Amino acid sequence: MQLHFSPSMRSITISSSSNSGNGGYVGDLMKIKVAARHFSYRTLFHTILILAFLLPFVFILTALVTLEGVNKCSSFDCLGRRLGPKLLGRTDDSGRLVKDFVKILNQVNSEEVPAGLKLPESFNQLVVEMKNNKYSTKEFALMLKGMMEKSERDIRESKFAELMNKHFAASAIPKGIHCLSLRLTDEYSSNAHARRQLPSPELLPLLSDNSLHHFVVSTDNILAASVVVNSALQSSLKPEKIVFHVITDKKTYAGMHSWFALNPVTPALVEVKGVHQFDWLTRENVPVLEAVESHHGIRKYYHGNHVTGANLSDTTPRSFASKLQARSPKYISLLNHLRIYLPELFPNLDKVVFLDDDVVIQQDLSPLWDIDLHGKVNGAVETCKGEDKWVMSKRFRNYFNFSHPLIAKHLNPDDCAWAYGMNIFDLRAWRKKNITDTYHAWLKENLKSNLTMWKLGTLPPALIAFKGHVLPIEPSWHMLGLGYQNKTNVNNVKKAAVIHYNGQAKPWLEIGFEHLRPFWTKFVNSSNDFIRNCHILE
Ligand SMILES: *[C@@H]1O[C@H](CO)[C@@H](O)[C@H](O)[C@H]1NC(C)=O
Ligand SMILES: *[C@@H]1O[C@H](CO)[C@@H](O)[C@H](O)[C@H]1NC(C)=O
Ligand SMILES: *[C@@H]1O[C@H](CO)[C@@H](O)[C@H](O)[C@H]1NC(C)=O
Ligand SMILES: *[C@@H]1O[C@H](CO)[C@@H](O)[C@H](O)[C@H]1NC(C)=O
Ligand SMILES: *[C@@H]1O[C@H](CO)[C@@H](O)[C@H](O)[C@H]1NC(C)=O
Ligand SMILES: *[C@@H]1O[C@H](CO)[C@@H](O)[C@H](O)[C@H]1NC(C)=O
Repeated sequence: MQLHFSPSMRSITISSSSNSGNGGYVGDLMKIKVAARHFSYRTLFHTILILAFLLPFVFILTALVTLEGVNKCSSFDCLGRRLGPKLLGRTDDSGRLVKDFVKILNQVNSEEVPAGLKLPESFNQLVVEMKNNKYSTKEFALMLKGMMEKSERDIRESKFAELMNKHFAASAIPKGIHCLSLRLTDEYSSNAHARRQLPSPELLPLLSDNSLHHFVVSTDNILAASVVVNSALQSSLKPEKIVFHVITDKKTYAGMHSWFALNPVTPALVEVKGVHQFDWLTRENVPVLEAVESHHGIRKYYHGNHVTGANLSDTTPRSFASKLQARSPKYISLLNHLRIYLPELFPNLDKVVFLDDDVVIQQDLSPLWDIDLHGKVNGAVETCKGEDKWVMSKRFRNYFNFSHPLIAKHLNPDDCAWAYGMNIFDLRAWRKKNITDTYHAWLKENLKSNLTMWKLGTLPPALIAFKGHVLPIEPSWHMLGLGYQNKTNVNNVKKAAVIHYNGQAKPWLEIGFEHLRPFWTKFVNSSNDFIRNCHILE
């Protein structure tokens, strides 16, 4: 932000060249004309008038600076610092008067605004009151401080409201995707071809053939599933070796089945299963899930009002955003927890690659099956050593509450975390370990302590359960963070074998990042009738 006074002091130009990372906000250029006849450089009042014109803009800036946490100064200090160098350097009268005023501002800075002080609603009103009531400079400065603090609070609150809206935008299903699901479900009942067996009966034995490459993806988003499968096939050098096991919930099953029945993936194979079709998935086998879903505290926690109860004065937008993220209903959905039951769900398979539905495969993944896991269960990318400060600096301390005695006793805060999204699992090794039981035991423990051990869904208990059973793989296999921030390095995106839109900004949502979206949309088949009729990608 720059301030410019015309030599005659008849106009003030405020231009903003600041470029905030997430979302532009300040108007580019504001020119404020100051009527010449009001100007008498000799009185303090007119200096105050200038400042009153200026301050609203400075307010916005300092409040944002404070919000973004760039500068840990009270906004009054910021004001002095920002006004200071620009104005104090002036040697003419206006500079001197502003200097006097800044001195008063600095005095007031260390004082509390009296609780009962009646604040004007706007700066216009402030100026009017100044004219009528002849406040002392100090009273004026106090009033400014009060207004400033209030405006800062308002801006904070609107920032939080914006984050809330983003959260709901991220949880809601876009119309096009909903349409796709409805039409495909309809097709299932009206079109015998959409109901055909998948894969055809003579190929069924291949579903448990361990010489093939088995992928598992679990999702209720048909479009996302189609992109995962499409991208895997198109990037593969040996598509005839690929078998996809798509797991979905009961309500999406018919639509998901129609899609893959009508869009064959030859020479690969695909199987679509609903959770209701796994005999193994009974309440007895998955006791914790039932507990998770019915625990009253949890329902409230995930579906309640997120703003009440949040202490806005000691919360930063970033920590608030991550809290919202943690409360996303997807973290209690069965589809999301399924990944811990892979050995039981696929009793005949030796090795699978488990993919999240927000990934895109850009290279042949067959070498993953050749990685020697050295007896470990889970080949995963570690998330504590990357360049990207936001996504790649996660250690156990970022996921767990180390004030909790059980956590402090069993875990090391400096242990490196790893990521879900693309993992190669050795199911044979897994079956010999006690991983699923450990997962259950800790999930129960966390429920007992009212979710004070960790907040965020499936990863933390998995970090505990897989401890000692993880083999770190090359980071270029799996690049994370495309749904978190705009600063993702596009060159790295191009080079990564699998890219992962983890975070809120999914590529199928409006809030997705435009320049990262094409890596995903290029695998959406825009000539498909269902995609066209549902106006997806338009
Ligand atoms: C919110 O946090 C501030 C600063 O930590 C504290 O002074 C205040 O009492 C807290 N408010 C509530 C309602 O917890
Ligand atoms: C498996 O883990 C559970 C929970 O941690 C424990 O109770 C059980 O004794 C373990 N079983 C074996 C065989 O290690
Ligand atoms: C958990 O919350 C419930 C109700 O809010 C409370 O009665 C119980 O004492 C809490 N338990 C622990 C371990 O904090
Ligand atoms: C962390 O654990 C301690 C001890 O159980 C508890 O008092 C505190 O509230 C927990 N913190 C969070 C954020 O849950
Ligand atoms: C993200 O960054 C790219 C290039 O760095 C830019 O073109 C785009 O407008 C930015 N988008 C948002 C939402 O900030
Ligand atoms: C896209 O859809 C059309 C029509 O359904 C189909 O003929 C074509 O093979 C599909 N292309 C790909 C790459 O799947």
